[in-house]
Amino acid sequence: MVSVNVSAMKETNAPRSALASANACGKIVLFGEHAVVYGRPALAAPVKVVQATATVDRGQMGQGLWFEAAGLGKRSKLMDAPADDPLAAAVRLTMSHLNLTAMPDWLVTISSTIPIASGLGSGAAVSTALIRALAEAAGRDVTLAEVSALVFEVEKLYHGTPSGIDNTVVAFERTVYFIKGQEPQFLTIERSPTFIVADTGVASLTKIVVDEVRRGWLREPDRYKWLFDRIAQVVTAARAALVQGDEGGLGSLMNENHELLHQLGVSSGVLERLRNVALAAGARGAKLSGAGKGGNLLALVASGDEERVAVALRAAGAKNIIVTQVA
Ligand code: MEV
Repeated sequence: MVSVNVSAMKETNAPRSALASANACGKIVLFGEHAVVYGRPALAAPVKVVQATATVDRGQMGQGLWFEAAGLGKRSKLMDAPADDPLAAAVRLTMSHLNLTAMPDWLVTISSTIPIASGLGSGAAVSTALIRALAEAAGRDVTLAEVSALVFEVEKLYHGTPSGIDNTVVAFERTVYFIKGQEPQFLTIERSPTFIVADTGVASLTKIVVDEVRRGWLREPDRYKWLFDRIAQVVTAARAALVQGDEGGLGSLMNENHELLHQLGVSSGVLERLRNVALAAGARGAKLSGAGKGGNLLALVASGDEERVAVALRAAGAKNIIVTQVA
């Protein structure tokens, strides 16, 4: 069996008398990253074997709201946290959304098994878990769309100019065909393909890579437009292949998408090396996933080939391997 071993943030023990506790999953971008920021379509799926958890417990009387994320080395009183702190922003936005004017004496504890800055949507998952737990502690219902919209606001602090795909897939926990500014289209997939997510171990901040692409686009608008349009064509074909269960087609389209991302300048030496290893070990297709320049490689594997490809990737230096099915 391939083991799932991710530990970016250390688990903290949820207080036994918690008022509320909520989880949120990670995500992978299957096709269309970066181009999606420029209005082209993209496909993304939830990854449920990794989770962020937020727990709300009663804090000390008169102390207001504190939040603690041991894995991030954070413990702060909400009132003292800077405006651009994403955890504090998620809490403030949620309190304001729920019209909670009096600050409750709560201790909010956050933990996660999702590696940070690896393209698995750790930021969106932490915000989603936090918002769900706060709403539950306040005895209020929030819709999935409300959660997604709140997470999107927080994502702007992580990303700068997010497309909205991360908050959508994490809040709704469904495979999505996404175009910025449009209603998400959730997909029903008959045969679930298996993917290996291999962590390069190289942390890469989405905001920085997205900014680099923007500078390239401003420098060479025609070339970037051509690349984004080509990626859009790949995504359209990939949507059909995914829904129809055409794994051969899906693999070729992953390779094509990766080549276009390489031309966008968001691949890296480690990603290229791991990709070659995955393909040589029998993966049907492989591409970077998320912002790139590090983070994760995504490989499509035929049933029964998981172990062989995972072992080869580990031997080539992948730091963690996750096996996930897109359903
Ligand atoms: C990040 O998961 C995907 C990017 O396309 C950024 C975005 O869509 O906001 C790189």
